[in-house]
Amino acid sequence: MDVIDYLSNLESLQEKHPVLGEMEKIGRDRGFPILHPLSARLLSVIAASSKSRYILEIGSGFGYSALWMALYNPFLERIILTDLSRENLELARRFFERAGVLHKAEFVVEDGVEVLNQLDFAPDLIFNDAHKIQYSSILELAREKLDVGGILVSDNAFWLGRVLDESNRDPSVEAIREFTRLSFSYKDLLTSLIPVGDGLIVSVKIKEGE
Ligand SMILES: C[S@@+](CC[C@H](N)C(=O)[O-])C[C@H]1O[C@@H](n2cnc3c(N)ncnc32)[C@H](O)[C@@H]1O
Repeated sequence: MDVIDYLSNLESLQEKHPVLGEMEKIGRDRGFPILHPLSARLLSVIAASSKSRYILEIGSGFGYSALWMALYNPFLERIILTDLSRENLELARRFFERAGVLHKAEFVVEDGVEVLNQLDFAPDLIFNDAHKIQYSSILELAREKLDVGGILVSDNAFWLGRVLDESNRDPSVEAIREFTRLSFSYKDLLTSLIPVGDGLIVSVKIKEGE
């Protein structure tokens, strides 16, 4: 048994919420890339343990990662889901309704980077699952918008293993490398890369930027 099997077995000790199970099936059937369930669990642990009340998600797809945070964070007041596809967010809305958490969600069909740029309050947590090329812009905006204690979580630190292949110079791979290097370099952030799923990069703002 490898580590992933061991963790997945632990995950199966609690019955999966039926709506999440259905979304996982849709992800598989359509080949739509949703967050790895172990990453979604960790993301929800981070959201709940930080008592995040206001969450912005950039790149929500049909709402799988956002629904995890809405179901398992008792402190949540509002989660803003963003996606470039109206169809994705309409599907997300239906899943939120069926899971009984629609009243906590807002669905915005727009570039989530622009939504972040225009936010007139500091979210407690930003979950970034957008186009990789946008990661560094999101990092800069997050540093500006988050209060001290605010958290930025981003998926695909390994970009399906491509990041570890030094000969791979694809722009999206280079973008993740640059984002990760910056996340670890800035003195106003404390950053950790957690090798779960495709790798989660978690940064907490620990002081105002210079
Ligand atoms: C990997 S999928 C998201 C999966 C989702 N976070 C989940 O785990 O259920 C990426 C999604 O981000 C959307 N996207 C990419 N860049 C975006 C941006 N800048 N703003 C909003 N949505 C974006 C795409 O349309 C796509 O649906």
